[in-house]
Amino acid sequence: MALKGIGKAVIPAAGLGTRFLPLTKAQPKEMIPVVDKPTIQYAVEEAVQSGINDILIITGRGKRAIEDHFDRSFELEATLREKNDLANLAELESIAQLAEIHYIRQKHPAGLGHAILCAAKHVGQESFAVLLGDIITDDPPSTCELVEAYNDVGTSIIAVEQVPMEKISSYGVIKGGHLGGGLYEVEDLIEKPSLDEAPSNLAVLGRYVLTPGIFAALERTPPGRGGEIQLTDGLKTLLDKERICALEVTGRRFDIGNKLDWLKATVELALADEEIGPELREFLKETVACREF
Ligand code: G1P
Repeated sequence: MALKGIGKAVIPAAGLGTRFLPLTKAQPKEMIPVVDKPTIQYAVEEAVQSGINDILIITGRGKRAIEDHFDRSFELEATLREKNDLANLAELESIAQLAEIHYIRQKHPAGLGHAILCAAKHVGQESFAVLLGDIITDDPPSTCELVEAYNDVGTSIIAVEQVPMEKISSYGVIKGGHLGGGLYEVEDLIEKPSLDEAPSNLAVLGRYVLTPGIFAALERTPPGRGGEIQLTDGLKTLLDKERICALEVTGRRFDIGNKLDWLKATVELALADEEIGPELREFLKETVACREF
């Protein structure tokens, strides 16, 4: 099915990365490598695969490496050209041409909802996608699934997945009426509920397609969990005015913002890599699987 209707994506990447200290003391968590690419490149590629070419990255202090990564690198390119290393040269040039990337700085960390508000002027009156910069989804990328579903329902739509209840308080959680297939009518949302408060096991996984109505809703949303303006609370405010749907997506998701999931993602994606996958598989089979834990 041809994807239409969503031209812009916002990637919030201003968070401090405190779950990954000390690694994130002097480098952005979004630049943490998974196999041979920084995490945020996966998000940019996912947006592009979903038919989106205009990408706004919300950065903050200490995030310059992100801009440098998507920029041209003339010295490096000249050196590779001299060495006739055409494969690496082509790859570097393609990164700089992936999409039309814009940047806005969130001047102080005031929450995910506040970061999205920073995008209001750039986005204007269009529906847009949001991809959290420290999450990787694939097989198929969740944004592709969301954009396709948005073309049907025409409302804001949130990607969700079922998570074990003992992990539910790490996520935004929805209360939803099942509409059939993977689709839900959102009736309520709560950011990082306790086990008792959680209305379901359907967790918000960091991919959204939102109508521009979210901006007025976020402006009316007071600080919530952690004293920050939460996107989940903004969506709850939006529910007063607009219908919101949720889609239980079918692909895989890795949360790169914590050490264990980052390690799992690295192993999974390295196993799928043509160059290093076969040898890594042998190493895991022969060396790790035989070990007593
Ligand atoms: C954010 C959102 C949360 C969502 C999660 C997905 O939380 O606030 O609603 O479930 O991403 O990873 P964070 O993990 O940034 O604390």
